[in-house]
Amino acid sequence: MSRFRDPPDPLFKRMNDSIGFDWRLAPYDVDQSRAHASALATLGVLDAEELEQIVSGLDSIAGELEREEFRIEPVDEDVHMAIERRLTEIAGPVGGKLHTGRSRNDQVATDVSMFVRAHSLTAIELIGELMGRLLELAERHRDWPMPGYTHLQRAQPIYLGHHLLAHFWMLRRDSERFRAALAAAGELPLGSGALAGVNWELDREAIAASLGFERLASNSLDAVSNRDFVLDYLYAAAVCGTHLSRLGQEIVLWSSQEFGFCEVADAFSSGSSIMPQKKNPDAAELLRAKAPRISSRLGSLLGSLHALPLGYSKDMQEDKEALFDAADTIQLCLAAAAGMLGGIEFDREALTAAAADEFPAATDVADMLVRRGVPFREAHGIVASIVRRALAEGRKLSDLGDEELEGLPPELGDEYRRLLEGQGWIDSKVSGPGTSAVRLAEQLEAATEALRELEA
Ligand code: ARG
Repeated sequence: MSRFRDPPDPLFKRMNDSIGFDWRLAPYDVDQSRAHASALATLGVLDAEELEQIVSGLDSIAGELEREEFRIEPVDEDVHMAIERRLTEIAGPVGGKLHTGRSRNDQVATDVSMFVRAHSLTAIELIGELMGRLLELAERHRDWPMPGYTHLQRAQPIYLGHHLLAHFWMLRRDSERFRAALAAAGELPLGSGALAGVNWELDREAIAASLGFERLASNSLDAVSNRDFVLDYLYAAAVCGTHLSRLGQEIVLWSSQEFGFCEVADAFSSGSSIMPQKKNPDAAELLRAKAPRISSRLGSLLGSLHALPLGYSKDMQEDKEALFDAADTIQLCLAAAAGMLGGIEFDREALTAAAADEFPAATDVADMLVRRGVPFREAHGIVASIVRRALAEGRKLSDLGDEELEGLPPELGDEYRRLLEGQGWIDSKVSGPGTSAVRLAEQLEAATEALRELEA
């Protein structure tokens, strides 16, 4: 029996049904239902035999899902109704008792929390693997000089190991953001019912313990309205995707003939259908391009939740495609980035040649003056005019004779040339987060420790 006289219009059904995508929640829905059934049995709503019938029916469904034999029927509006329908087919009318003390509103909030928890952990694991790749590469290229850039103009040379570790630390912050999403999704909504709570004093502690939730939601209305944890996951994924896009962009630039700093392995590149000589860094390009797709999912869910009155509204069903697509995309990007970095080859000669330029030493020359008491701003001006002269005459800084070093105290001429010849301006960056070999060695140790912590 139903309150309705007329069947749903096919257009409404198409718009309203979520089974086309929320089938992905099925394993969580089954686990949740096992825990809920036990709580109902504790209350005496199900007797031992009924519990056994329901649990074994749910086990059969889990098996069908695993073997991809679970059939979705046209009547199934969403995953929750599909599973209850199938349970009733397998176990008989007792299946209809499972929905006691539960609404699809707290049920879906619980399933989605479980999905977010599982996928936060997967993301953290994938991030760890990628960080491992970066650390390996950084170790191997710890003393390879390369130019560091600002405005994509050569600025100051650094070690390639230092550059690679910059990406490592970005990813570590990403893993912390996914940890935050994991924690945010750790509150059990079940027991909230449609919005007001239910007429049964379910043992929520027991349900939480069996499903791995850390805490119990305190307010039923909040619990059914809450999708913060989805936003937290999407934010973590959006930032992580954005980080990967910056890595991708650098690989795209570096593997161009213009830079010639690296070559991506064949397995992560493609050729051209018309130009036989081409090798394109497609994986890196796609890392670049997928990021906005993830961040737009965050934007769209924020939009769906904007100004939504508390209590469930169908708007909230829109959380799922945003979440699923973001999860698939970030997981693929993280794994592909690790794969791509696994086979990347750097060109020591090209990197060293690009870093050999003397002009980046300008800051070191200015600091030489500062050590003699010249205010930095003034020293900057003196060196700028020396640089201007060298550039205008097409000469190297070290080629200028004492009399051409305008503004530089004459007794500093020798030290000036020694400084330039020593090419020590990478190892002069001795401040804590600097690129010098000593600091980089410490940084590599800290990174190793950070990775160990992450994997613990
Ligand atoms: N399919 C729905 C969703 O994904 C489940 C909750 C339905 N609740 C309701 N009151 N109609 O959001």
